[in-house]
Amino acid sequence: MEPAPPVHLRTVTGVQRLNTKVYTIKNPACPDEDDLGMIAECGEIIKRGGLVAFPTETVYGLGGDALNEESSAKIYAAKGRPSDNPLIVHICNIEALKEIAEDIPEEAYILAKEFWPGPLTMILKSSGRVPHTTTGGLDTVAIRMPSDKVALEFIKASGGFIAAPSANISGRPSPTKARYVMEDMDGRIDAVIDGGDNAIGLESTIIDLTDGSMQVLRPGYITNEMLGKALGRDIETDPALLDPACKERPKAPGMRYRHYAPKGEVHPVKGDPDKVFEHISRELIKAKEAGKKTGVFCSRGNAEKYDADVIRNAGALDDAETAAHHFYSALRDMDDESVDIIFVENFTERGFGEAFWNRLLKSAGSEWEDA
Ligand code: TXA
Ligand code: MG
Repeated sequence: MEPAPPVHLRTVTGVQRLNTKVYTIKNPACPDEDDLGMIAECGEIIKRGGLVAFPTETVYGLGGDALNEESSAKIYAAKGRPSDNPLIVHICNIEALKEIAEDIPEEAYILAKEFWPGPLTMILKSSGRVPHTTTGGLDTVAIRMPSDKVALEFIKASGGFIAAPSANISGRPSPTKARYVMEDMDGRIDAVIDGGDNAIGLESTIIDLTDGSMQVLRPGYITNEMLGKALGRDIETDPALLDPACKERPKAPGMRYRHYAPKGEVHPVKGDPDKVFEHISRELIKAKEAGKKTGVFCSRGNAEKYDADVIRNAGALDDAETAAHHFYSALRDMDDESVDIIFVENFTERGFGEAFWNRLLKSAGSEWEDA
C-alpha cells in the first residue's frame, strides 16, 4: 500500500479548492503605488469574506476579517486548527484597541507606546465586538499592531481588524517566506501577498494583561527584560512553558499543542561548544551507519567541519537573532530533503534566545542531550 502523503500535501477536504493568487510587492519597505493597488485588491478580498496570507515582521499570517464569524471559521478550516485555539487580531492604529478591548489597564498603553507597532501581542478583556469564533470562545482577545509596512497597509485596506494565525498548516513550522505559505496553503486561500522574507522569523511575544500577574505566555523578540524595564517591575514567563513537569497547562491554548515540528527528529545538544561539536560529530557517524539522512543547524565556524547531508549555518552561538531568523526555514528545507535526524548546537538561551529555545524544544518534543 502507498504510504499516506504528508498532511500538507493531502487533498483539501471540507474546504473549497481555490485558485490562490500571489501578489508580489516590489518595495516591501516602502510600498509604491502599484504595491498599494495590489494591497487594496487584497483588502477587498478580505471585505468579501476571503482569506489572504500576508507578511509581518515576525512570520507570515493567514488573514481574514476578525469581525466576520465565517472568515474565522474559514481560517480554522484552512489551517486544520482546533477551533478552541484563539486567533490574534491585528490592528493598524491605537483607536482600534479601544473598540475591541475594555477595562484596558494603564500598562497596555505604556507597552503600546514603547513596542507598537512591533512584535508584541497583548491579551486584554474583550469588549465583545470580536466574535467568539475569533477568540476561541474566550472573553479575552489577543491584539497586536505589526510594524511591517505591507502588513499595516493591508490591515488598513481590509477595514482595520485582521484575524491571523501563522500561515502554516497546524503543526508545521511557521512560514518565513511566501513560498512556504504556498507549500501549505495553495488551493486553500484566495491570495498570498509576497513581501519577501520576514525580518525576525519567530512569532510575537504574548503578554497577558487580564490579571495582575502580567505573565509572558509566549516568549518572542520583545524580552521579559524589555517589558520589565518599560513597566518598572519584574516580568515572568508562564511557568508551564519552562518546566515540562509543571502540572498547570500553558495559559495560551496554542502553546499546549505539539508545534513547529518538522518530519525529522530534532536533537538539541547543550554544553561546552567543543564538547557539543564532538558529541554531534559522533552522533552523525552513528546515524549514518544506521542509514539515516542527517542534518545539522550549527554555528558559522563549524559549518564546514561536520560530515552531514544538510548543514545550515546560523551565525554565532551568542547571536539568537540570526539563529531564530534561520530556524524555521532550516526545518522546512530539511523536510524537503527528507532529513531523518537534525542536530542543533548550543545557541544562547539569554534574551531573545529564550524564545529560540522555546520553539527549538517544542520542535524536539521538549527533549535535549547533554554533550
Ligand atoms: O507573530 C505572531 O504573533 C504571528 C503573526 C502572524 O502575527 N501570529 C501567530 O498566531 O503566531 P498564532 O495563531 O500562530 O498564535 C497565536 C497564539 C496561540 O498560542 C493562541 O493560543 C494565543 O496566541 N492566544 C490568542 N488569543 C489568546 C487569548 N485570548 N488568551 C490566551 N492566548 C491567546
Ligand atoms: Mg502558529
